[in-house]
Amino acid sequence: METVVSGIRPTGNLHLGNYFGALRNFISMQNEHNCYFFIADYHSLTTHPTPGDLHGNVRQILVEYLAAGLDPEKATLYVQSDVPETAELYLYLNMNAYMGELERCTSFKDKIRQQPENVNAGLLTYPTLMAADILIHRATKVPVGKDQEQHLEMTRTFGNRFNRMYNVEYFPEPQAFNFGNELVKIPGLNGTGKMGKSEGEGNAIYFVDEPEAIRKKVMKAVTDSGPTEPNQPKPEAIQNIFQLMKVVSTPETFNFFDEMYNTCQIRYGDMKKQLAVDMISFTEPMREKIKAISADEAYVSKVARIGKEKAQESAAKTIREVREIIGFKRF
Ligand code: TRP
Repeated sequence: METVVSGIRPTGNLHLGNYFGALRNFISMQNEHNCYFFIADYHSLTTHPTPGDLHGNVRQILVEYLAAGLDPEKATLYVQSDVPETAELYLYLNMNAYMGELERCTSFKDKIRQQPENVNAGLLTYPTLMAADILIHRATKVPVGKDQEQHLEMTRTFGNRFNRMYNVEYFPEPQAFNFGNELVKIPGLNGTGKMGKSEGEGNAIYFVDEPEAIRKKVMKAVTDSGPTEPNQPKPEAIQNIFQLMKVVSTPETFNFFDEMYNTCQIRYGDMKKQLAVDMISFTEPMREKIKAISADEAYVSKVARIGKEKAQESAAKTIREVREIIGFKRF
C-alpha cells in the first residue's frame, strides 16, 4: 500500500473535464491506498482572495468532491490550513531551498508573466510549500499531471537534501502516480482544446450549472457549415462535440449523428439539442447530490473535522520527528 497525497486548488467549480481527469483516479485510489486529499487554501493566498471568498471556495470544493465520490471513510479529506504542521515543515524546507532553483521553476516564470504586479515570496516558494504538503505525510506517490512534474522533482530534491544534511533516511522519494484508468479526454465547447475554466466563458460544463445554463452553452458550441463530401474526417470543433456526445449520450445516438455526418445530412442544431438533453441528464445526479450535501451543514463540518484530525495525526508525528532530527530540544 502506498501513501498518496494530492492537493486540489480551490478555484472554480467542478466541471466535466476535472471529473474525467484527476478526480476519477482519486476515487479509485482511495480503495487501495492510504490517501490524503487536501484543499490547497494556503497555496491560494498567492493570488490574494478576499476573506469573504476564501471559505466559500474551500467549502464548495469539499462539497463537490464529496458529491463526486471521494469517501471520507476511505481517504483523509482535509483543508490544508487545518494542518499548520504543513507550514512548519515549509519553513524548515525553505532554509535549504535556494533562490536560483526556485527562480528557475517554470511555474514561477509563468506567474511572473501573468501577474507582474504581484510577484510575492509565496509564489517563489510555491514548490517548497508543495513539497511540505507531500513530505508531511512522507508520501510515496503523488497523482499529478505533466504540468506538476517539475514540482515533484523539486520535492524529491528538497527531501533528499534534508536527508543528506542530517544524515538520515527520513523522507522517501515520492513518485508520480499514473493510475491505470484511461484518461477520457473532455474537450471544451469553444472549438479547440480541452475543457477548462481558463478557456473562456461558456467553454466548460459545470456540475452546478442549472439545466437551462447547460442548454445555452451547448447550443452555442462552435460548429461549422457542415461537410460537403461524404466520409470526410471531422474538423476539431466537430470532433469535440462528437467526443462530448460519446461521453454523455447512448451509442445509438452517437452512431446516428455519426452516420448523418458521413452522409452529409447532419444538422448541428439538431445534434446540439440532443447533446444538451443528454448532458443535462448525465450531470443531473451529481447536481442533486451537490445540492443535498451543501445543504447539510452538520455533515460538511463533520467531514472537515474528521479529516483535520486524521491529517494532523500523521503530520504531527512527522513534525515531532523532524524537530528531533534538526536538533530542537525541549527545555
Ligand atoms: N500544484 C498543484 C496544482 O496546481 C496543487 C498542489 C498543491 C498539489 N500541493 C500539492 C498537488 C501536493 C499534489 C501534491 O494542481
